[in-house]
Amino acid sequence: MGGFCMPIEVNRSARTWTLSGGNTSYVLHVDQQDRLLHLYWGPRLPGDALSFDPADYFPYVSFDLPVAMLPLELPVCGSGWYGTPAVGIRNSCGDDVTDLRFVSARVLPGKPALTGLPAVYTESADEAESLSILLKDTLTGLRVTALYTVFNASGAIMRSLLLENLGDAPLMITSLQPASVPFWRSDLDLIHLNGAWARERRIHRTPVDKGEFRIASARGASGHEENPFLALCERNADEFSGSVWGCSFVYSGSFQASCRVDLFSHTRLSIGMNPEVFSWRLEPHESFTSPEVVLIYSDKGLNGLSQQFHALYRSRLVRGIWRDRSRPVLINNWEGTYFDFDEDRLLSLAQKAAEIGVELFVLDDGWFGKRNSDNCSLGDWTVNSEKIPGGLGALADKMHALGLCFGLWLEPEMVSPDSDLYRAHPDWCLHVDGRPRTLARSQLILDLSRPEVQEYIISVVSSVLSSAALDYVKWDMNRNMTEAFSALLTPDRKKETQHRYMLGLYHVLETVTAAFPDVLFESCSGGGGRFDPGMLYYMPQIWTSDDTDAAERLKLQYGTSVVYPVSAMGAHVSDVPNHQTGRSVSLKTRGNVAIAGNFGFELDLARLSREELIEARALVARVKQVRDLTRAGTFWRLLSPFDGAETAWSFVSEDQREVLLCVYSTISVPNSAPLRVRLRGLLPDVWYKTEDGRRFYGAALMHQGITVFLHGDFDSTLLLFKADR
Ligand code: DGJ
Repeated sequence: MGGFCMPIEVNRSARTWTLSGGNTSYVLHVDQQDRLLHLYWGPRLPGDALSFDPADYFPYVSFDLPVAMLPLELPVCGSGWYGTPAVGIRNSCGDDVTDLRFVSARVLPGKPALTGLPAVYTESADEAESLSILLKDTLTGLRVTALYTVFNASGAIMRSLLLENLGDAPLMITSLQPASVPFWRSDLDLIHLNGAWARERRIHRTPVDKGEFRIASARGASGHEENPFLALCERNADEFSGSVWGCSFVYSGSFQASCRVDLFSHTRLSIGMNPEVFSWRLEPHESFTSPEVVLIYSDKGLNGLSQQFHALYRSRLVRGIWRDRSRPVLINNWEGTYFDFDEDRLLSLAQKAAEIGVELFVLDDGWFGKRNSDNCSLGDWTVNSEKIPGGLGALADKMHALGLCFGLWLEPEMVSPDSDLYRAHPDWCLHVDGRPRTLARSQLILDLSRPEVQEYIISVVSSVLSSAALDYVKWDMNRNMTEAFSALLTPDRKKETQHRYMLGLYHVLETVTAAFPDVLFESCSGGGGRFDPGMLYYMPQIWTSDDTDAAERLKLQYGTSVVYPVSAMGAHVSDVPNHQTGRSVSLKTRGNVAIAGNFGFELDLARLSREELIEARALVARVKQVRDLTRAGTFWRLLSPFDGAETAWSFVSEDQREVLLCVYSTISVPNSAPLRVRLRGLLPDVWYKTEDGRRFYGAALMHQGITVFLHGDFDSTLLLFKADR
């Protein structure tokens, strides 16, 4: 059974399945009692390397129930497992006892699609292999299919669960964690991405400790506070070396992720639905598919983990024509004008933008209904003819005549109480009869679990997109859910609302993006409140944060890059003093930060001096020169803004012959030596040349580094290297 040939090696007599790809293996076993066990996830092993020996698990003295010691792959309630169940079921007798036993297993080529859900995909069946393991609870008739896919080249693994009720009584799904992975150790650190509005996805690393550590969102969106991602790493792992195990949930709604250390100092990492706001009634003959979790193991530290996530999400999660295309340099009028604009002001901004080489004009909030502030008109997606007398079609034509593409902001999931839509359909929002409808930003959320609301959104968005030659849409969503118990659902189904909303949203997004395949969609949620793999499946880029301050952006972009590719991150140059922090950073550094993302401007260009406009034009030319490298190159985090006064990252082309090094300072330190930055991922025996003609040997750049002179607060430099032979 040895050898490294097939992604999934089956050892029928030992009842083990070894999923291998890249440098990784993941091993499953079915024991003599037909329980599905997890034997291993880590560096690659041959298929016959591991077998199950009960003696490893049951020492001669144990006062605990044996099942608690087992490395269960799908822990369930009721017979000795005391943590969060991977599959939690309340049966019609009212008890939670579940007993999943193995029935059969099947290896499939490629990766089956998850209908109605965002998911990683293959482009040809030989990229990956899948394993479908069938388990059954005889008493209730619950059948669970645990679906695994392993990518041949990278070793990335996807897990999801299909639950079917083959019994004759309804079942209630009370917990669903599509990944629940045991580790035989606890000498590990945990990494998660914590934040808040305007300071999303900061890297937090903390030692794993006894007890349970949990992150979650119950907000109905993945949220600003936590990201649906959790990683474990060896204590000595750093950006470049050591073992890291990462789990990323391909979902945009509420979630939970936890790390639990049990009495035997074994650790379990779980991620999935948040049971506080999720349950699902499964009638006989009904089925339920969970969203999937992506598991990536890296033996090359955090950079290695991120690079694998980037490659997978960039090329096998993002879809459509924009996946592999250069993204346009844009100007967005939000921070430049807020609601205070008319067509003349927009066109004069567009004219200036066109002059400096901008390619896309994005008209943000305020173009519709009577929206001159954020207290009305969401839902009334007809143009405000006082601001834009000729309508959207004519404005789009004028933008195109200036040589610019034209894009529009929409917030289709929302309704303002002061709107014609709300007056016509007051029952269409999330609400609970007899209770106040909690407002946030003066708005309510449409109940996307309702089919008629989904159809309304599809039709209204389609009609806006057909009314003008639109090239881009910014799809915003600016508040969290309250009263999230759909009026249409029966009491025992009320906790399905949030998930039904997500399924409705995914249906809407699938329909709209398929109907307008040329349009570039950018997701947004009060900045980065829904920056997750689920949204990336429908929209190839996401607005990273409402914080556009360049110094803060270093942390934002660095933290976001732990999971998400640079091609996903919107990054804009905005005005100074910055509207969120009051900080003033030079145009050079604002540009050098935004260049490491989907570049745009978000300021009134009329406020720039002649010299600054010349600088802005040069910046745009620079963006166009390097944007394919920043979009598709390998991203290396070199110096962390969380650790010191300097930040550095680089982009290395696939052939390793082109490199962009970006270095930034925040608060300058007196009497400090010039900074030395060691590059990574170069060809060691090749000479690289900078644009000013300096030559450096690849190995020397990696081992001795390059001296970078930065002076003053918030200085920065970009160095572009090309292989010289
Ligand atoms: C929140 C977004 O993050 C901003 O960029 C802007 O589009 C506003 N909404 C508009 O209301």
